[in-house]
Amino acid sequence: MYLKTLRLNNYRNFLKLSINFTPNLNIFIGDNAQGKTNLLEALYLIIRGNSYRTKNDQELINWSNKSTCLYGEINKDEENFQINLSLEKKLESFNKFKLIKTIKINQNIQRKSILNKEFKGVVFSPEHLQIIKGAPSIRRKFLNEQISQIYPLYYRHLTDYYRILGQRNNILKKEINQRGLRERLLIWDPQLIEKGSFLILTRIRFLKKINYLADKFHQKITKGKENLKIIYQSNILKDQQENISFISRAFEDKIKEHKEKEIKYKISLFGPHRDDFLVCINEFNIASYGSQGQQRTSVLSLKLAELELIKEREGVYPIFLLDDVMSELDEERRHFLLELIMDKKVQTFITSISLDYFNSNIKEKSKISKIEGGKIFAL
Ligand SMILES: Nc1ncnc2c1ncn2[C@@H]1O[C@H](COP(=O)(O)OP(=O)(O)OP(=O)(O)O)[C@@H](O)[C@H]1O
Ligand SMILES: [Mg+2]
Repeated sequence: MYLKTLRLNNYRNFLKLSINFTPNLNIFIGDNAQGKTNLLEALYLIIRGNSYRTKNDQELINWSNKSTCLYGEINKDEENFQINLSLEKKLESFNKFKLIKTIKINQNIQRKSILNKEFKGVVFSPEHLQIIKGAPSIRRKFLNEQISQIYPLYYRHLTDYYRILGQRNNILKKEINQRGLRERLLIWDPQLIEKGSFLILTRIRFLKKINYLADKFHQKITKGKENLKIIYQSNILKDQQENISFISRAFEDKIKEHKEKEIKYKISLFGPHRDDFLVCINEFNIASYGSQGQQRTSVLSLKLAELELIKEREGVYPIFLLDDVMSELDEERRHFLLELIMDKKVQTFITSISLDYFNSNIKEKSKISKIEGGKIFAL
């Protein structure tokens, strides 16, 4: 799968743009604040129908305009798809605007979910370093999103689990009559345990798979100097169990054992909603001990693993978007990363402040452009 063409009208700082891409590596060089991230965001919008940077679509419209149009041509399995996406601010009442979003595939209006089913993209942006450095909730979000994409059943169990958890927390918060409280908690506990155990087991299995792939990439990029290990941290299990009845029993025991504590704190303290995972390089936790380059390389290895999982499921590679990936990586890591991408024949878009990061072999095989003030020039 690859993007052939992109056209933009009044999108962010691009007033008018028309550009063709190569199915291999596309490099965009530019100083700060010229439109590099904006361009990657536009490519993502064409294939996914939403931004990976903001939930507020209004931000995508150029400041001096009321609407924006994006057009892209995608080739998938030798078939061409034309995607149109438009956003229009319509005046509803005095001073109040409504944003109308329209997505078309081959001139037919479609829902975003149809676009999502057909086309995939993997993004690395500097904010993704938070997967390593940030709070456990960011890692849980990463896990939930990744697994839901692959197993729809996981998403169903996840929403069920959070609904049950909400009910249970409500009882813990509101119930004054202590006897009634215990009885009402008992109603929800078996369901919480059933759904929660499924989530824990699926997460452990998924991380095992992603660990296998990410470690292979990590070793390649670091020339065998570093290995990567991902460890699921459950507040119920001592080690990474893969037996559902064992997990359920441990969950049940934990809740029973700590019921008084939950009543005291008025909140559910145990279950996958409190779990986390650790990323280790050569056995040390990189969130605490890793250098910036090691953290960046690990996120990249995770993203490369994501690429492989999508390929495994869909039969074709998604589009790979790498924003400002080169800084903090030494020459050797940069070289192995780019070689790896070239070998895979994944259509890749890389932004960078300097062309010096790319060696002559890579430059020869890539399409290189310069971004300046919302305009793109071939180099
Ligand atoms: N809706 C918008 N309308 C017009 N300009 C916008 C809009 N949204 C963002 N911009 C501007 O677009 C410019 C380019 O932003 P972008 O994030 O793409 O920069 P960049 O090239 O990635 O820079 P950096 O190297 O610092 O990451 C910024 O000056 C930003 O203020
Ligand atoms: Mg940027």
